Amino acid sequence: MLNKITVVGAGNVGATAAQRLAEKNLARTVVMVDVAEGIPQGKALDQWQSGPIEGYDTRVVGANDYEAAAGSEIFVVTAGIARKPGMSRDDLVKTNAGIVHSVAKEIARVAPKSIIIVVSNPLDVMCYVAMQGSGFPRERVLGMAGVLDTARYRTFLAEAMEVSVEDIQAMVLGGHGDTMVPLISYTTVSGIPVTQLLAKDKLDAIVARTRNGGAEIVAHLKTGSAYYAPSAAAVQMVEAIVLDKKRVLPCAAWLQGEYGLRDMFCGVPCKLGKNGLEGVIEVPLTEQERKDLTASAEAVRSVQATLSL
Ligand code: NAI
Ligand code: 2OP
Repeated sequence: MLNKITVVGAGNVGATAAQRLAEKNLARTVVMVDVAEGIPQGKALDQWQSGPIEGYDTRVVGANDYEAAAGSEIFVVTAGIARKPGMSRDDLVKTNAGIVHSVAKEIARVAPKSIIIVVSNPLDVMCYVAMQGSGFPRERVLGMAGVLDTARYRTFLAEAMEVSVEDIQAMVLGGHGDTMVPLISYTTVSGIPVTQLLAKDKLDAIVARTRNGGAEIVAHLKTGSAYYAPSAAAVQMVEAIVLDKKRVLPCAAWLQGEYGLRDMFCGVPCKLGKNGLEGVIEVPLTEQERKDLTASAEAVRSVQATLSL
């Protein structure tokens, strides 16, 4: 258990993540920071009072500034605006870049040794903004997207094959956008290649639905985007770090030549432990997968090029 974890942004993803962190007993104190007056305080009080029922002693605290967050070991950054119907994740870039940059500066001020997990969209570019704003090394700035995209992919595969989601091993790499890359060549059902169990047209449809997974939920909700699976995904990354599990998860990491990509964040297989990013795992890809990953990285780069920090 850590001493303190802070979630920045007490909206849908942030508040749900804080609740999950408390329920998993991952820190003695979970802090929620948000600019909206009263919202983090009210939600934190409500969550703290769930402890006797759910069986946790975690103190959940809400604040509008960073003093309560001082010394936090991990920050989950969800601050910013979310998608509405008709908006792509990239439409959020200007507003969220300003927010994430100022949040990252505050994090570096009150907790210079912390690890940042970025959730705000457009994800890969916001990781870059957080790294610029905090000045942290690549080991301590990671982005959550691949765990979510992979969970969607696994859900749809499990449904199609009528098997448990637990038995599906898979990874979705690339940028968190329409060009994300589900790796069919590494998708197995308890070790059995998925291509032996599912016809190509069915697999192609699942890949397409995965790529559209966020938009499918936005189209239902109309006033915002997904938050149950996204918060669960962010908390899985936190748990891997807190428990020093050395989990291999698809995360956005600052790449320095891995997969032929440099000076950018993109989703790749990462080893997560107590130091944050403890390694990027490079695996051979099929020619098509490599082409798709390069195209996805180019899409991230084109959004990054619009930034003026
Ligand atoms: P939301 O609108 O429910 O919550 C955002 C919160 O950020 C609001 O409470 C707002 O007051 C707060 N905020 C705005 N400026 C702030 C600042 N300077 N400091 C602190 N708090 C600030 O949005 P939701 O649904 O929680 O989504 C949050 C972000 O996460 C969005 O950018 C969304 O697109 C992204 N997202 C990313 C996912 C991923 O896979 N990486 C998945 C789901 C959401
Ligand atoms: C999602 O994939 C909007 O990025 C968010 O649900």
